[in-house]
Amino acid sequence: MIRVAIDGPAGVGKSSTSKALAKYFGYAYLDTGAMYRAAAWWCLQQGIDLDADSVDERIVTQCVADLFTDGHFDIGLDPDRPYVRVNGNEIGDAIRDADVSLHVSKVSNVIPVRHLLIAAQRAYIDGEAGEDSFSQGAGVVAEGRDITTVVEPEAEVRVLLTARPEVRQARRSGQSSISRGVVGSEDVSARDKADSGTTNFLDAAPGVTTLDNSDLTFEQTLDRLIELVDDAI
Ligand code: C5P
Repeated sequence: MIRVAIDGPAGVGKSSTSKALAKYFGYAYLDTGAMYRAAAWWCLQQGIDLDADSVDERIVTQCVADLFTDGHFDIGLDPDRPYVRVNGNEIGDAIRDADVSLHVSKVSNVIPVRHLLIAAQRAYIDGEAGEDSFSQGAGVVAEGRDITTVVEPEAEVRVLLTARPEVRQARRSGQSSISRGVVGSEDVSARDKADSGTTNFLDAAPGVTTLDNSDLTFEQTLDRLIELVDDAI
């Protein structure tokens, strides 16, 4: 089985290119950011204060453990049919709300939460969890912030997707205003700064290929990723 690990900062186009790459090869697709977003969304739903300067890590961990260990959570691995569900309800749109984007780093910086999610992510990647049809396939593309370094450092293909901050900001602004009807957009650099305490997704670890797509189109980025996977097959 080919494991493709793709990391990178906000607004670099990880999700769209990773999904297209998985479709191209008929691989499973795992959006680990969606799992952290679901964790933050669930904490907000439970009324946990994520605005505090220092969140109550014990309560946050307990809440996230409840979501991920009691079968409430479900994520689709088929790139043609992505879904994120909690107790059977689709939350794919809700977890991309500005409120979740604003608070997600507070949850993802809690180390026991990371341990829980890393274990869950490895189970999906190794085919021990998730949809049968895709969990035992020829390969999987997993994207996030620490896949190349922590979740799957032995992955056959490891890529750090980067782009200049102003390019990422412009892409994210377009996404927010067009697809979400949001006026203005989030500050991607602020989220990167908040995330960089626990994960290093700005420098490539040894053996990881850096792909800067600042001046590449979506198709050019995808072609380059396809080449990297082809080389590993
Ligand atoms: O990729 P996306 O922007 O949806 O990720 C949302 C958040 O999830 C990130 O800002 C980060 O806080 C967290 N995350 C993480 N580790 C990953 C993937 C995402 O901490 N592997």
